[in-house]
Amino acid sequence: MAAPSRPLSIVILAAGQGKRMKSDLPKVLQPLAGHPLLAHVLDAATALEPALIHVVYGHGGEAVRLAVRAENLRWVQQAEQLGTGHAVQCALPGIPDEHTVLVLYGDVPLIRTATLRTLLALVAPKRMALLTAKFDAPEGYGRIVRNAKGQVLRIVEQRDCSARERRIRECNTGVLAVHAKHLRRWLAQLRPANAQREYYLTDIVAMAVKDKVAIDPLVAPTAIEVQGVNDKLQLALLESEYRRARVHALMQAGVTVIDPARLDVRGSVSCGRDVVLDVNVILEGPVQLGDGVRIDANCVLSQVQVGSGTNIKPNCVIERAHIGAACEIGPFTRIRPETTLHDGVHLGNFVEVKKSDIGAGTKANHLAYIGDTTVGSRVNIGAGSVTCNYDGANKWRTQIGDGVFIGSGTMMVAPVKIGDGATIGAGSTITKDAPPGKLTLERSSQHTVEHWQRPVKQ
Ligand code: UD1
Ligand code: CA
Repeated sequence: MAAPSRPLSIVILAAGQGKRMKSDLPKVLQPLAGHPLLAHVLDAATALEPALIHVVYGHGGEAVRLAVRAENLRWVQQAEQLGTGHAVQCALPGIPDEHTVLVLYGDVPLIRTATLRTLLALVAPKRMALLTAKFDAPEGYGRIVRNAKGQVLRIVEQRDCSARERRIRECNTGVLAVHAKHLRRWLAQLRPANAQREYYLTDIVAMAVKDKVAIDPLVAPTAIEVQGVNDKLQLALLESEYRRARVHALMQAGVTVIDPARLDVRGSVSCGRDVVLDVNVILEGPVQLGDGVRIDANCVLSQVQVGSGTNIKPNCVIERAHIGAACEIGPFTRIRPETTLHDGVHLGNFVEVKKSDIGAGTKANHLAYIGDTTVGSRVNIGAGSVTCNYDGANKWRTQIGDGVFIGSGTMMVAPVKIGDGATIGAGSTITKDAPPGKLTLERSSQHTVEHWQRPVKQ
């Protein structure tokens, strides 16, 4: 029978400075896949639907608080870093006795929610759950000391290890879960009697054994998810592991990836059938790609939805946009936030679109800027045409109706409206509304100087 579930408090330790990063940015704000390490941990924590998440911060105080966001977040300051045990103690006044406490580290970003769920299921009134991992190179980690029956007795830190203990490969990941009542009792008894003169959270394991609270160890399914980040090398290693896992998942879902080592997937990305991703593509989620979408080389898509059958040609940068089906974008197109392209839109090289809605079948194939504009369907926008949306102080909108033809090199000085079916002669500077169905042009008349001669060098 399942025990009635207790409220969960998650404590994330994030006060460390991270000296080995050799950076002004606090360690937990170092980016992995474009997001702070701490944000990854918060995502995993939030998925467990805890009553509260307590983030213990110290170094980088305000910056850390401003950089991340989550529901039910409580910030706990640890002014002096006196050890992991002390850090948890700082959070305890905000945690009721009847909660289960899960301890996570702000610098262990790839921890999986599924593993944490398995760990939490092991917690009971007389049981503490401990996440361990087997490392081939355990240097630096606390070692798990078990008795002949395999029961966990205590954790010994590397610096306090005997020669024999040093050979133990099973290590402490730092992640544990236990009832708050026990934790409160044990933490009050911690003493800094160790090589670093710190309050070690790990000392509570021996206290639990003494109190007849059994330790239930769970060996992490993969070592990478409990790997901490201490320097830029480890950061790069986790980044590549993260990338590899994401790309593998996409391929397993049927996506054709031309070179798995040259695709970056950050955040959530979902793909339909027969999607093809060429080399050097960066997808920053949420990204949704419909059936048959093809993204060619060197494209960056961030928070984008793409309809089925659309082809994004090489070297496009697209951010916060909805792109319809059967569109052809690029090469070298830039689409900026709050843009919607309806089905069958063609945008070509050196076309920039910002905060605009572009109707079905409309084409702007070369050198154009379309900003703060509503464009109808089946419009042709000629090369070198620009919506002049900014008067130096304010942004104004341009409206272009259905079936309009904008001749090359047209300046549309907003606010301005071009009626349905209008044609604008090339080279016009349009400052007044153009009526529907008519040719409007603004052009000084062409003349030729008959007897003119080029100057000659004296
Ligand atoms: C700790 C564990 C060790 C384990 C290893 C796993 C202890 C005593 N040791 O060692 O058994 O194998 O993690 O990576 O717990 N922190 C604070 N406040 C503090 C001290 C630390 O918030 O006063 C935070 C750090 O920012 C970091 C985490 O706690 O996120 C771990 O601290 P760290 O000093 O890196 O512990 P380790 O020596 O690696
Ligand atoms: Ca560490």
